[in-house]
Amino acid sequence: MRKPIVAGNWKMNLKLSQAKEMVEELLSFGNCPESVEAILIPNYLCLPLLSEKLKGTGYELGAQNMSSEDQGAFTGEISWDMLKEIGVSYCIIGHSERRTIYLENNSQIEKKLKKAVETGIKPILCVGESLEKRQAGEAKKRIEGQVHRALVGLDKDAIQDLVIAYEPIWAIGSGQAATPEDAEDMCRTIREWVEKDYGSDLADKMRILYGGSVKPENIADFMKKENIDGALVGGASLKAKDFHQMIEEVRND
Ligand code: 13P
Repeated sequence: MRKPIVAGNWKMNLKLSQAKEMVEELLSFGNCPESVEAILIPNYLCLPLLSEKLKGTGYELGAQNMSSEDQGAFTGEISWDMLKEIGVSYCIIGHSERRTIYLENNSQIEKKLKKAVETGIKPILCVGESLEKRQAGEAKKRIEGQVHRALVGLDKDAIQDLVIAYEPIWAIGSGQAATPEDAEDMCRTIREWVEKDYGSDLADKMRILYGGSVKPENIADFMKKENIDGALVGGASLKAKDFHQMIEEVRND
């Protein structure tokens, strides 16, 4: 019922020439299958090129971050309008690397999420706990705080296209993915919170992704779980062959 998502967050990897090669190789395998939503999320500089290359292929384009402001004196920032003009449909909001390295807080994330939903950019809201919080048994409390702080003041209509990605910080780039059972447990809990706040029709349709050391070899194990609707992939999304293989694992046509 929920269309699965495979989203590739390239982070600060692949310069323009490498992005061109990656996308050309990816397209040599054909267009994106209709049963999957596959989203490429490169650095800003590669967005115009990818937008051109991906036209008519079924692949979607996402950005890694966006400003909560419309325009003006905000050095180094990129606005929703700039993203939309080049065909970006998704944007990651609140990735843990933004939260921990660049100290983005819940209130900034809330503003960005509001701006995205107001302007028709589909947000991929990232939430995740540190190893310390998990070991202290506080993972759910942490995630609940992040979800609720981000969604505060948003009504049901505003978040129809929201995607939530559960990415435990300790699983990111570590090669140590969460177990599918633990990931499912958190994704189910997130869906239950959404249901409590917004009702079951929205909760049933919202896509919730797992992220953290997902690769072609383990993606199918996550996809078997009822509440996991796809993956937000870092390292393994950089190689066309691996990204394509993950899409093949997820497609259900
Ligand atoms: P890795 O897949 O490299 O662990 O990264 C996950 C991630 O942070 C995606 O946003």
